Amino acid sequence: MIKRYFLGVMICLAVSPAIAEQQYVAPQYQLKEKQIFIEKLMQQMTMEEKIGQLNLVSIGSDYPKPAIMAAIRDGKVGAMFNTVTKVDIRRMQDQVQYSRLKIPLFYAYDVVHGQRTVFPISLGLAASWDMDAVALSARISAKETAADGLNMTFSPMVDITRDPRWGRVSEGFGEDTYLTSRLAKVMVESYQGDDPSAPDRVMANVKHYALYGAGEGGRDYNSVDMSLPKMFQDYMPPYQAAIDAGAGGVMVALNAVNGIPATSNTWLLTDVLRQQWKFNGVTVSDHGAIGGLVKHGVAENDRQAAMMALKAGVNMDMYDNMYGKYLPGLLKDGLIKQQDIDTAVRNVLGVKWDMGLFADPYRHLGPASTDPVDTNAESRLHRAEAREVARTSLVLLKNDHNTLPLAKSGTIALIGPLADSQRDVMGSWSAAGAAKQSVTVYQGIKNALGTQATVLYSVGANITDDAAIVKYLNSYDKSVEVDPRSPQAMIDEAVNTAKKADVVVAVVGESQGMAHEASSRSDISIPQSQRDLLKALKATGKPLVLVLMNGRPLTLGWENDISDAMLETWFSGTEGGNAIADVLFGDYNPSGKLPMTFPRSVGQIPIYNSVLNTGRPFNPQKPDKYTSRYFDITNGPLFPFGYGLSYTDFSVSDITLSSTTLDSKGTLTASVTVTNTGKRSGATVVQLYVQDVVASISRPVKELKNFSKVMLQPGEQRVISFPITEQDLRFYNENLKWVSEAGKFNVFIGLDSQNVKRQSFLLL
Ligand code: BGC
Repeated sequence: MIKRYFLGVMICLAVSPAIAEQQYVAPQYQLKEKQIFIEKLMQQMTMEEKIGQLNLVSIGSDYPKPAIMAAIRDGKVGAMFNTVTKVDIRRMQDQVQYSRLKIPLFYAYDVVHGQRTVFPISLGLAASWDMDAVALSARISAKETAADGLNMTFSPMVDITRDPRWGRVSEGFGEDTYLTSRLAKVMVESYQGDDPSAPDRVMANVKHYALYGAGEGGRDYNSVDMSLPKMFQDYMPPYQAAIDAGAGGVMVALNAVNGIPATSNTWLLTDVLRQQWKFNGVTVSDHGAIGGLVKHGVAENDRQAAMMALKAGVNMDMYDNMYGKYLPGLLKDGLIKQQDIDTAVRNVLGVKWDMGLFADPYRHLGPASTDPVDTNAESRLHRAEAREVARTSLVLLKNDHNTLPLAKSGTIALIGPLADSQRDVMGSWSAAGAAKQSVTVYQGIKNALGTQATVLYSVGANITDDAAIVKYLNSYDKSVEVDPRSPQAMIDEAVNTAKKADVVVAVVGESQGMAHEASSRSDISIPQSQRDLLKALKATGKPLVLVLMNGRPLTLGWENDISDAMLETWFSGTEGGNAIADVLFGDYNPSGKLPMTFPRSVGQIPIYNSVLNTGRPFNPQKPDKYTSRYFDITNGPLFPFGYGLSYTDFSVSDITLSSTTLDSKGTLTASVTVTNTGKRSGATVVQLYVQDVVASISRPVKELKNFSKVMLQPGEQRVISFPITEQDLRFYNENLKWVSEAGKFNVFIGLDSQNVKRQSFLLL
């Protein structure tokens, strides 16, 4: 998995002097050396020390530091998460030196879209469709994470989801299997590089295996029931892509899959993950998930839960120390085998080896003299890169009469509860990022305008007027501020502000905590307090630009009707405000495309691009009653997958195929000419979709198979060609065989999933 050329082995001096002296190891011997080292170490370990390695401790109020320090000295801790400074980590690692075998701990953290510098939320990264930008964000995340002394990130999160009610939609890459798989690979490769022990790299722990994003009703932690072909076709590939890219860790999902919780699911964790996919890293349970087996109703008690999880293939126990409590007794009673424990321990030691911790337990830490004086120092941030990446993630949803870009002159009324919220612009899972360092839209606009124009600001509304929701959102940390004034007083003030301006920019949507873990919604519209504000702003008759901040597709039909322009900005990170201002004033031409379908109504969910046709498909040209539709709403989404506008226009020619047939060894090329027909330079995403017209099982009407983001100057043309091979046309058949079937295929190319050109060929 990992290239390793220089190794010094510190702790194994007692274990194997021969290895300790070795400096250069040719690649073919690396694995051998690792195995020998681990086996010799294992021989020296007591059963308690082995079980200690399986304990992944969460620092928190329920586990005070002195107790953790003592547990480390006793060899009862394998790894730690939720500590993020070198000083703290070194203090923990120092304790290891007082343990009998001095086996170093590794340190993990949820670095999902940036560590100190916060990049757009993952859904926003996906909206960039820009693999270079995403790679840049992950490389910087790794660099900053390593610079804080950490060794592993619990990322990427690659759960496919087609249900925007789920709050963790924000944390993944959306609905599409192909796009998410590409992103999974890029993220893992960028975090780890060739070697996760390198000074600017960390190990990736992909999550949440498996199908966490498919919970019934979009309710977090809920169960999943799914056919095996759909599972393997649509939901599993991103995890596999991360593993193929070398991810060192896998986090096991909290949900049940077809009745069996992932945490006790031997088929998932052993048969598929280890045997089929050849994963050789470490698996970690999700937070408290082993104890959760009792609540799932598959274990009678915690002891049985620990037994089931270990046997199924959960190597490390996050948070609840069920292994520490119960494995010794289970072993004594013959309910688990020595080998069950040893297998898990080998995997833990294996990743520690790959992290370079046996060579240097202070890897990524260095001497105390190199510790930053201020962990949030400006100099530790990567602002330019954050702005560059954030710009690529913004999606222009509507732009009537070229309302955008705005002129840098006159008076702009900036209104809305999200316009000047430093905490919200960062999004949830913002790791060690400091809100006080983030740039709000208000600040970004002021930075862009200087003295050229006037900005007037009013908050206009609270995020929501529903006190119960505010209480919920603030139940663990107080992140939603409430203005005590009456809603009408706030609206009146905003309307007065709007009246003085040439244009109104309203920044509305969700607070970051509304799109997070444990933040499922049954209604995915903008909260009523903000809609009341928008209604009043609309009544002023001023041009109305909506800057949307949210972590999931929202239902925006009404907002679409009343606004002149809408810019989807997700939660765009530390430099979000500057990036948004770049787009509002045309210093950057928006190029993002939706990674997830935006429904018209929550009742349409699940709604996504790669659907099956049904035997009675709805035809908008010839609407008929007895077709697959709702009678109270137009079929189809408000904004389809892959959609996004630009300040320039592009045309796409008809598709040229290099041949009308393809055999199993050949490559067929599908090409279009894309032209920038407008007056500005701009980038767009050319998307290739394929349909297997007749197959042994029903296949999607359109599946994304490739894409290319291209930048074109005004008037510039470019031929974009996509190779298609037989491999691209395979699918999981009813026997779970990954096959292609001869016959007709449709090819579609367009700048979104609905507005496409079409051609056909035959697979021989
Ligand atoms: C989440 C994981 C996360 C873990 C540690 C859990 O509740 O589901 O995604 O990595 O907590 O913070």
